[in-house]
Amino acid sequence: MSGLFITLEGPEGAGKSTNREYLAEQLRAAGLDVVLTREPGGTPLAEGIRELLLAPCDEVMHADTELLLVFAARAQHLARVIRPALERGAVVLCDRFTDATYAYQGGGRGLSVARIGALEEFVQGDLRPDLTLIFDLPVEVGLARASARGRLDRFEQEGRAFFDGVRSAYLARAGAEPQRYRIVDAAQPLVQVQRALDGLLPELLGLARG
Ligand SMILES: Nc1ncnc2c1ncn2[C@@H]1O[C@H](COP(=O)(O)OP(=O)(O)OP(=O)(O)O)[C@@H](O)[C@H]1O
Ligand SMILES: [Mg+2]
Repeated sequence: MSGLFITLEGPEGAGKSTNREYLAEQLRAAGLDVVLTREPGGTPLAEGIRELLLAPCDEVMHADTELLLVFAARAQHLARVIRPALERGAVVLCDRFTDATYAYQGGGRGLSVARIGALEEFVQGDLRPDLTLIFDLPVEVGLARASARGRLDRFEQEGRAFFDGVRSAYLARAGAEPQRYRIVDAAQPLVQVQRALDGLLPELLGLARG
């Protein structure tokens, strides 16, 4: 596949959604075909699964159910959006992907890496992001930003231990495979975060142009 697959990761309130627009603008200004998308979701059917995942619910969702829903949405998103875009040579900029599964369902819920890895293999084959930006910040800063935004979703209602697990899992993955990950200090003011993204731009453009 000839395109470039970039994912944006990090906890709630880290600024992924805020900065994906900024990054997309920079890449488009350089003449690239950019597909901006998100997970869970990215197609009407997968957005329906997203609603199931995020809506607070009286019935406790089993961790395996959550994991399978995440990958069901991903299978649809890959088939309908991500693979076709990569095949035509586009840059796919995706707000969350499988690293979020390792962080939330792994680090947060405690599902094993082996269990998640088996589904990753099943759904993605050997497709992995070319580059992953992790927006990293202290748990309480992210939670404060997310709560300031309004009603909390099913994940945002989790406690401190869950989000400590999420953050550690992200950082552990970045540490284990440093060539694929770039960590952005997301606790800084937005202008400084964007300056850090500007610093990554030459590398992104280089990768996109092969
Ligand atoms: N660097 C920053 N400094 C201060 N506030 C920020 C910064 N970046 C984003 N915000 C604010 O924090 C809130 C959450 O940002 P955003 O929605 O982009 O986060 P997110 O990573 O997409 O979160 P989620 O995972 O919940 O979708 C927004 O109100 C946004 O304006
Ligand atoms: Mg967001």
